[in-house]
Amino acid sequence: MARVALVTGGTRGIGKAISARLKADGFKVAANYAGNSEAADATAKELGISVYKWDVGDAAQCAEGIAKVTADLGPVDVLVNNAGITKDGLFHKMAQEKWDEVIRVDLSSLFYMTRPVIEGMRERGYGRIVNITSINGQKGQVGQVNYSAAKAGMIGFTKALAQECASKGVTVNAVAPGYIDTDMVAAVPEDVLKKIIAGIPVGRLGKAEEIAHAVSFLASDNAGFMTGATLTMNGAQYIAG
Ligand code: CAA
Repeated sequence: MARVALVTGGTRGIGKAISARLKADGFKVAANYAGNSEAADATAKELGISVYKWDVGDAAQCAEGIAKVTADLGPVDVLVNNAGITKDGLFHKMAQEKWDEVIRVDLSSLFYMTRPVIEGMRERGYGRIVNITSINGQKGQVGQVNYSAAKAGMIGFTKALAQECASKGVTVNAVAPGYIDTDMVAAVPEDVLKKIIAGIPVGRLGKAEEIAHAVSFLASDNAGFMTGATLTMNGAQYIAG
């Protein structure tokens, strides 16, 4: 029986590439999305996957959404916590709303999404949790105190939960992309982005498909001995110890 993979933010950007990769790997794929129904419908058609709309920063919506995915496809074997937002700005000018919103969507969502699936994974003795963090959770980034804090929090979550689940066949890992060619990165002011790319030794932005290949490995049966890890993929922009 094909395993079930649920990818949050799985209809655009890195998430779409992950959905495509996991579908090609033979998973039954459910992709969650928050708002852009047009893109979601197009992705559903293009990839032949199921898409579900809910806000990953809302506990009740997550519980309801996961119940629907489970009823439609079966229990979730692989959860990719990919959905995320930025609300950049210098901290000394940052409104609390920008802090609250990024922590809610990027970090609290890990609780809301993972808590409803973890007991089933433990009982079945199999599960794969993959959290998409960021280079900026590892090194910090000017203009992203909120995002850097949330993304660093995801790494702590990954390390702690990995230890709790290690004996139950459930692995928990993180992937830390650098600057990838997506809408999110395209929103960075052009002059700032130019400087950022100049600081990437590989000399270019990363591709969403490159990140998806790493997730594909972590989601596979072959990755059973890898847990608690953070896979850094950033073109050597920042080499985490
Ligand atoms: N270190 C310290 N200070 C810096 C700096 C640096 N590297 N770069 C700029 N600054 C300071 C400047 O000196 C200036 O300070 P003063 O006001 O005292 O002169 C100030 O920052 C810049 O002023 P601006 O008027 O330009 O500030 P702004 O509010 O318009 O914009 C910003 C600032 C929001 C940080 C903007 O530069 C920006 O958006 N930067 C990009 C941040 C970024 O990399 N985001 C990543 C998005 S993609 C993503 O998040 C995906 C992923 O995971 C990688």
